[in-house]
Amino acid sequence: LILDGKSYQYPTIEGSEGEKAIDIAKLRDETGYITIDSGYKNTGATKSAITFLDGEEGILRYRGYAIEDLAEKANFLGVAYLLIYGELPNKEQYDKFDNAIRRHTLVNEDMRRIFDGFPVNAHPMGVMSAMISAMSGFYPDSYDDKAPDHTETHIIRLLAKFPTLATWCFKKSNGHPINYPKNSLDYCSNFLHMMFSLPVEEYTVDPVVSAALNKLLILHADHEQNCSTSTVRLVGSSKANLYSSISAGISALWGPLHGGANQEVIEMLEDIKADGGDVMKFVNKAKDKNSGFRLMGFGHRVYKNFDPRAKIIKKAADDILGKLGVNDPVLEIAKGLEEAALHDDYFVSRKLYPNVDFYSGIIYRALGIPTNMFTVMFALGRLPGWIAQWKEMRANKEPIGRPRQIYTGATLRPFVEL
Ligand code: MLT
Repeated sequence: LILDGKSYQYPTIEGSEGEKAIDIAKLRDETGYITIDSGYKNTGATKSAITFLDGEEGILRYRGYAIEDLAEKANFLGVAYLLIYGELPNKEQYDKFDNAIRRHTLVNEDMRRIFDGFPVNAHPMGVMSAMISAMSGFYPDSYDDKAPDHTETHIIRLLAKFPTLATWCFKKSNGHPINYPKNSLDYCSNFLHMMFSLPVEEYTVDPVVSAALNKLLILHADHEQNCSTSTVRLVGSSKANLYSSISAGISALWGPLHGGANQEVIEMLEDIKADGGDVMKFVNKAKDKNSGFRLMGFGHRVYKNFDPRAKIIKKAADDILGKLGVNDPVLEIAKGLEEAALHDDYFVSRKLYPNVDFYSGIIYRALGIPTNMFTVMFALGRLPGWIAQWKEMRANKEPIGRPRQIYTGATLRPFVEL
C-alpha cells in the first residue's frame, strides 16, 4: 500500500468469497491515518465546518473559537447561535433569537396526555426521546415535503420547548406540579425557575447557579462526530424530520458509554464513599482486569491528552461549590482519584485522563439537579450542536448515510433439506 509516497506492508484479513482486505485498524494505529470509510467504526468521512477537535493536543473549538474563551465569556444562547448559524450574534441578532425562543417555550397541552402516561420511575432520557419524537406529530409540516420549509421555526421550537419538557420529567419524579415557563427570564434562569419553583414558594434564581449552568451547557454544546451526533446526521440523511433525528440523538446519548457516563461517575463516587473513601483501593481495583471494576469518566476515544472540557469543569466545580458553600465529599474523592491516576504508570501509559463526565455530575448535584437528570442536562447542552450538524448535513446535500459493511459470515452454503 502506498500512502503519501511511502509504502507500507500490511497483513490482510479474509473477507467474503475469500477476498483479502487490508487490516485497517492496524494501518490506522501505526500510521496515524484515519480510515476514509465510516464502515470501519470511524466517521473520518464526514466533512464539517462546525467543531474542531485535536485529541493529541487537547484542543476544542466551536466555529474557530476556543472552548476556554466561550466558556468564560459567552452565554449558552450566544454559543447556540454560533453553532447553528456560524457566527457569534451581534446584539440585534441575539435579541431576535432570544425573543423567538421565549415566544415558543409553552408546550402543547395535548402533549401532557402523552407525558402523563409514563410511569413515575421512567428514566427521563427515555421520556425525552419519546416526547421530542412526538413533537413531529404536533408539527406535521416538519415531515411534509410539499409544505413550505419551516425548519427555522422547528429549530426555535426545539430550543424553546426542550427545557420545559425536561423540567416536566423532574417534576414527575418528585410528584410536584409542573411550572409554566416565565418568559421574562433568560434561558437558564427560566429553566431553573421551572425546575425549582413551587406553588407555595417561588424560586429565586441565584446568579452563581445560572452562570454555572450556562458554563456547563456551553461545554457540552458540540463535540464533532461522536455517537449521538453522527446518529442525528445519519437519521436525518434519510430526510427524517428534525424532531425524529434529535430524538434518535437523545437515545444514543443515553448509553452509559456516552452521555450516561456522568450518571455512572457519580454513582461510582458514591460507592467509593460508602466503602470508606479509600481511593487507592479503587485505583488498584481498576488496574485488576479480573475485578470487573472500571473507573468511569476516565479516558476518551479521541483525547490522548486532557479533555480540555474536564480542565474547565474541574476548576468550575471548585469555584461553584465554594461560592454556594456546598461541601460535597465526593469532590475530594474525585480529586483524589484523579491525582492517584495521574501518578500511576498504568493510567499514564494508557492515556487515561478524566474526561468531561468526571466532574460535571458533582456540579449538577450542587445545583440541586438529581442524578437521573444528569444525562438530560447533557442533552440540553448538546441540542444546538445536534441541530447545527443536522442543518449542515442538509445544507451540504449529503446523500443518505449507508455505512459500508465488512461481511464476516459464512460463504455460500449448500442448502440441504432436513
Ligand atoms: C461527547 O462530548 O460527545 C463525548 O465526549 C463523546 C465523544 O466525543 O465521543
